[in-house]
Amino acid sequence: MSASAEMPYFIKPSLNLGREDKRAAYKQALAAIYANLEGEEDTILKMATVNCLLKTYLPYYYWVGFYLVSGPERLSVGPYQGTLGCLHIDFSRGVCGRAARERRTQLVPDTHALAQGTEHIACDPNSRSEIVVPVFDGEGRLIAVFDVDSTLEESFDEVDQAYLEGLMGRVFEAN
Ligand code: SME
Repeated sequence: MSASAEMPYFIKPSLNLGREDKRAAYKQALAAIYANLEGEEDTILKMATVNCLLKTYLPYYYWVGFYLVSGPERLSVGPYQGTLGCLHIDFSRGVCGRAARERRTQLVPDTHALAQGTEHIACDPNSRSEIVVPVFDGEGRLIAVFDVDSTLEESFDEVDQAYLEGLMGRVFEAN
């Protein structure tokens, strides 16, 4: 089965937020995440919980999930919520690959402006903007990238970047 352009009944189109509303939503989401993950050490449980609670509070999170470093220069899909994700992504391809390669956050205001198949991999054609944040463990090793897609252009900015980088550091670099 491959990804379809049709939006399934259980996924809603995105709704963009202004900066102040974003900050308020992130504060609520992060408080819920930290409360639920208190004392938790399992990486997969942490990832599943982060996905669920961010998608609950942020209305422009259409696809949210982690791609795990699964081999040399290779990512494989991990916990996610949304439509069908691509299973494997090489470091040489897409926005996720670039985030892994450069070990820094990628903000993409318009995914359709990128070269398809090389600069951007369209797992779902409904994705119109995205942010990808690298995830490190306590020893500074890259363990995953965190990928969020919206169905609208320009959903993500430095507010998302600041909150998400802080969150990934606190949740995955701590143990
Ligand atoms: N956006 C990614 C591909 C993964 S999907 O969006 C779930 C990329 O181009 O790297």
